[in-house]
Amino acid sequence: MTHAIKPADLVPDAGLEGIVVADTVLSDVDGQNGELVLRGRRIEDLAGRMPFEDAVRHLWGDLVPTSGPDLKETFAQARRMATAALPAMEKAPAGIGVYNRMRLGICALPEDTGLTEAELISGALPVLLASAARLEAGDIPISPDPTLSSAEDLLRMLAGMRPLAYAVNALDRYLVTILDHGLNASTFTARVIASTRAGMRDSVIGAMGALKGPLHGGAPGPVLDMLDAVGTPDNAESWIAAEIERGERLMGFGHRVYRTRDPRADVLKNGLADLPRGDPRLALAEAVEREALSALARAKPDRKLDTNVEFYTAVLLDAVGIDRSLFTPLFATGRTPGWCAHVVEQQATGKLIRPASRYVGPAVTG
Ligand code: ACO
Repeated sequence: MTHAIKPADLVPDAGLEGIVVADTVLSDVDGQNGELVLRGRRIEDLAGRMPFEDAVRHLWGDLVPTSGPDLKETFAQARRMATAALPAMEKAPAGIGVYNRMRLGICALPEDTGLTEAELISGALPVLLASAARLEAGDIPISPDPTLSSAEDLLRMLAGMRPLAYAVNALDRYLVTILDHGLNASTFTARVIASTRAGMRDSVIGAMGALKGPLHGGAPGPVLDMLDAVGTPDNAESWIAAEIERGERLMGFGHRVYRTRDPRADVLKNGLADLPRGDPRLALAEAVEREALSALARAKPDRKLDTNVEFYTAVLLDAVGIDRSLFTPLFATGRTPGWCAHVVEQQATGKLIRPASRYVGPAVTG
């Protein structure tokens, strides 16, 4: 007999909400005050103020060993080395998807490169992402250009031409915004895997699996689908009311930790102001956000549900011309240095993460 466990029967800590299981020097998420701090600096002081590599340098500090002082140069080396993974990615079955091709690429990265695994994987991902996207589209991958930054080269390898400065800045802003975020589901996954003494690659590949789901990093594509479905600002109220009535979750709203607005939402929204013509979707997005917040406040008065990072991720990335199928792969690319730092931190503890479960199955018979 199968026995499905209903939400009401769950152990009190089933979602591990509020349970502290790690010390970290990396990031602090203050859910009450809507503040995110990365190694002593607020996210607002990092994102939009520096390229991705400088933010990684700041996050890694003296925790993650590096092979040289200049991460831009090191990540460029990693991009060159990443081309060794292309034959394995090319052999993957058609339609396997960008994300899976990237994971294959991580497995196929060269060994003994002289770079640390954290540098190699973090630096290689722009090549793995752009090549996977082009292979999925039936195009030939474009070689990396070691003179460029990670963000600029990624956009160039995707589109086949040098990107405009505003697009590079927007992508840097995005990648820095999502670099690290406490013990979210994917980072926890990375740390669990690291705690078994499996290596960095397995930790990152496993974390990518956790990130992919719509309750975590899989949400921004569906956010854009929602905006498309709403169509015009005057349609927002009725469309959202119907979704809530059906018991659907509104993508881009709600958070396990934040009981107020996710600070990353505004960091990304502010980035829209730097785009040359603004964004035609912004008015629609603002109308949807307004209606969603008031509908959620009415439907769930006891659970403060506010805008999360994914809502304006979708609007910003779309505004710089990135296809929605690449939103989650990009999230993984920006989060990987964060995962790697947590892996190093976890490895240093030497402690296996192994919680317990409560047995509610059939009693022993016979
Ligand atoms: N729309 C409608 N209802 C919601 C939403 C939402 N976006 N978020 C939560 N709720 C409701 C739930 O249905 C639940 O109602 P119930 O108590 O009547 O069953 C209640 O609020 C509490 O929800 P939980 O799932 O218990 O809260 P939790 O903290 O586990 O959820 C989560 C956080 C998964 C992010 C949730 O808010 C959600 O599903 N949001 C939509 C998906 C999304 O935006 N994902 C990206 C998150 S950000 C990130 O990971 C990078």
